Amino acid sequence: PYVNTKEILEKANKEYYAVAALNINNLEFLQAILEAGIEKKSPLIIETSEGAIKYAGTGDPLRGAKFFVDMVKGFADTLDIPVSLHLDHGKDFKYIVSAIKAGYSSVMIDASDKPFEENVKITKEIVKIAHSVGVSVEAELGKLAGIEDNVSSAESVLVNPDEAKKFVEETQVDFLAPAIGTSHGAFKFKGEAKLDYDRLKQVKELTGIPLVLHGASSVVEEIVEIAEKYGADFGGSKGVPSEILKETVQLGINKVNTDTDLRMAFVAGLREYLHNNPKEFDPRNYMKKGKEYVKKVVADRLELLGSAGKA
Ligand code: G3H
Ligand code: 13P
Ligand code: ZN
Repeated sequence: PYVNTKEILEKANKEYYAVAALNINNLEFLQAILEAGIEKKSPLIIETSEGAIKYAGTGDPLRGAKFFVDMVKGFADTLDIPVSLHLDHGKDFKYIVSAIKAGYSSVMIDASDKPFEENVKITKEIVKIAHSVGVSVEAELGKLAGIEDNVSSAESVLVNPDEAKKFVEETQVDFLAPAIGTSHGAFKFKGEAKLDYDRLKQVKELTGIPLVLHGASSVVEEIVEIAEKYGADFGGSKGVPSEILKETVQLGINKVNTDTDLRMAFVAGLREYLHNNPKEFDPRNYMKKGKEYVKKVVADRLELLGSAGKA
């Protein structure tokens, strides 16, 4: 069924596992993700960025948001596993309101680039609107950036645990994304991957609410190899290794935001398929291998995060 993200994450918080929050832009990624969730009997959070909504709605936020609700809810209503739909990195009021109006289960308000008090103020406003119609809210504290890249300013970039406590109390936000050293995309660390576990532990102890890890893609080695075999250049890419992801779940992460790994898996399969089938031009065929790799990456992740079998 189509459920509230809060329901999915409160269970995960109580039972010490994490649920993958998987970004989509189209039908094919959704199909692959759902197949993995069904096979692993896992709850799923599907998320779309403002960019995804803009893309799907050809520029009209409400049309784009409605499109995703129709598609995700349409599938979810026929399934036994719990599925929710979340707005990722909501920054523009227009998109946040459109997502709420259209029927998203939860929204993120990302005012993490603003000073603390302003972040509190903006987040509070969104919480008020969203909660009045039963939509749950995620917010972010600190900035996403690799520790290695910001050695000198690490303190100001990463989440401050005392601020996190104050933030949650004042805003009544449902889930919090604390910056602990990850970043978006396929190039997260120059040297060794390293996250600030102490900060994460403190934020969990001081807030107790479900926590979110952004920039959580692993950059799967086998996928990079296939993609590069068929012409991609992903030189220098590096993600969060599986053992580190697992550690963050043990320390209180309950939602693991993943986009890059799915994009890389799909393009690896697409390149492989097109290379091996030069006469093919039916999209239902040439997208098969990409979907298969997305499904495999998601299925493995659901096992790693501990949500398999929790539906
Ligand atoms: O948080 C970023 C997500 O990976 C989505 O990015 O704006 O390219 O859709 P996007
Ligand atoms: P990745 O780029 O590591 O997949 O992160 C995605 C994300 O945080 C979406 O909000
Ligand atoms: Zn993110």
